Parts: sequence; C-alpha cells; structure tokens
Amino acid sequence: MTAARLSARELTLAYEDRTVVDRLDLTIPDGKVTVIVGPNACGKSTTLRALGRLLKPKSGAVLLDGESLAKLPTKKIAQQIGLLPQTPVAPEAITVADLVARGRQPHQHWWQQWSDEDEKAVTEAMERTDVAALAERSVDELSGGQRQRVWIAMALAQDTGLLLLDEPTTYLDIAHQVEVLDLVRELNHDRGRTVVVVLHDLNQAARYADHLVAMKTGEVVAEGTPAEVVTEELVRQVFGLECVVVPDPVTGSPLVVPGPPWSASATAPAHSGTSA
Ligand SMILES: Nc1ncnc2c1ncn2[C@@H]1O[C@H](COP(=O)(O)OP(=O)(O)O)[C@@H](O)[C@H]1O
Ligand SMILES: [Mg+2]
Repeated sequence: MTAARLSARELTLAYEDRTVVDRLDLTIPDGKVTVIVGPNACGKSTTLRALGRLLKPKSGAVLLDGESLAKLPTKKIAQQIGLLPQTPVAPEAITVADLVARGRQPHQHWWQQWSDEDEKAVTEAMERTDVAALAERSVDELSGGQRQRVWIAMALAQDTGLLLLDEPTTYLDIAHQVEVLDLVRELNHDRGRTVVVVLHDLNQAARYADHLVAMKTGEVVAEGTPAEVVTEELVRQVFGLECVVVPDPVTGSPLVVPGPPWSASATAPAHSGTSA
C-alpha cells in the first residue's frame, strides 16, 4: 500500500496559548472525497487551514508526499493544494474574472505571465460554477451565494490535485448547495482529485462522503464510511442530539432525523374544537 499524499502526524494547533487540536493523526485517502463534520468550534476550520498550510503547527506536521509542509516552498504547495477558507477576504473592488484569475498564480512564471492554459482554466472554472455572466462585476457587490461560487471558481482555476473546501455551501440556497456538492463529486470522479470538505450538514456529509471524519473538541471521534460513522450513538456523542437514523430514500446513505423536541406525555395534545 502506498502512503497517502496528505496526512497529519501528531499535529498540535493553537492560537496563542490555547490548544485547539492536540496531537491529531489524520490520513486523507487519495482520490476520494473526505468530509469533516463536528459541532461548532470543534476545530474543523483550524485543522483544514493547517492541512493547507495557512496555519503553522505548534508541533507535529502535515505531510505532503512524505515531506513536511513547513519545509516546502509556498508555490510548490499551491500547485498541489487548493484551499478555500471558511471566510475568505477579497481584495477591494476586484472583479470576478480577476479574482478567479488569481487562482492561476501558482502556475505562472516570470517568463510567461498569462498562458492559453490559464485562460482555459479560468473560463472553465467560471462556467462550472455558473459565474461566467458575472465576470466583469465587482466581487463586493455580489450576493453571498454568488460570491461563494466565485471563490469556488478561484479554487477550481488553481487546478490542484488536492482541494480543501471549508463549508463551501454556506450562503447557498438548496439548489446551489446540491450543485456545488455535485460539482465536488464530479471533480473527484472525472479527474481523480482528492477533496476534503468541511460541511455542517450531517445529512449532506453522509450523502457525499466516501470517507467521513467526525471531530469533537479537536479530536477525531470516528472515521470511516458514512454507514459506519453516522449512527444514533455517534450523533448523540458528538452533537448531543437524540435522533433516528434511517436510510436516505434517494441514496440509501444514513439520514439523521432529529428526535422530538418535546415529550408527548408531558405536553397536552392541542385539541381542536375549543375555538369560540
Ligand atoms: N484566529 C483565531 N484566533 C483565536 N482563536 C480562534 C481563531 N480561529 C478559531 N479560534 C478558536 O478555535 C476554536 C476552533 O475554531 P474552528 O476551527 O474555527 O472551529 P470549527 O470550524 O469547527 O467551527 C474555537 O474555539 C475558536 O473560537
Ligand atoms: Mg469552521
């Protein structure tokens, strides 16, 4: 068995003195869609940023093709790993086309600023994310959902073998959520890309993940196929939620249905017929 391209070894991540992730070991399976789930503030974004070298480990390492990210040149990493953070910040007044084009920076050389391949990657990325019509608009003036799709286009234009996306469906309506997640699947399927996505929706996670990682307070509590991970017991343990897990009627993946928020025996049923 060959080693996975991306992994974390005894990774400890902290802000100032506050440790958020403590000696985490995580292996990202090649050519698969890995989805990370877990309650708010458990360290999902922190972990993803470290996998993309946006955050420097306190100790331990993230390994890319067996080498510590800390030892690799930024440009080389950016040719291999694309990262869309949870709340990316666009330069002021930049247009959609210019922002997406920034995804090409890691592929440019001093002797050639802009190639046909760059042009093609940008056009294709904008088409796939349905933002081509917005090309000349300023990113500032877009809706949250449009802006999110532009960021995804930028990450696609970067054309990396590894793609890390932090809650890419936030701000999107349900049709665009499904579209983005289908696109993630497609990218993985067509090009064998390795994708890591943080999702807050457990049911979407169970639908789209090949490999599901459940985190709680900076630790991996469970990982495996959605069927292995998403159980009533796990949802209770990780999210503190009573639920029933049934097969998704469309995909057969586990579907979490929250339990009743009130107890029928403690609440008098609302009878009709009392109106004046
Ligand atoms: N830039 C930061 N500075 C200080 N603390 C942070 C920063 N980013 C995140 N944290 C803290 O680290 C913890 C984990 O955050 P995060 O990784 O964003 O969680 P998640 O993505 O799972 O919601 C939280 O307690 C959060 O408040
Ligand atoms: Mg987050």
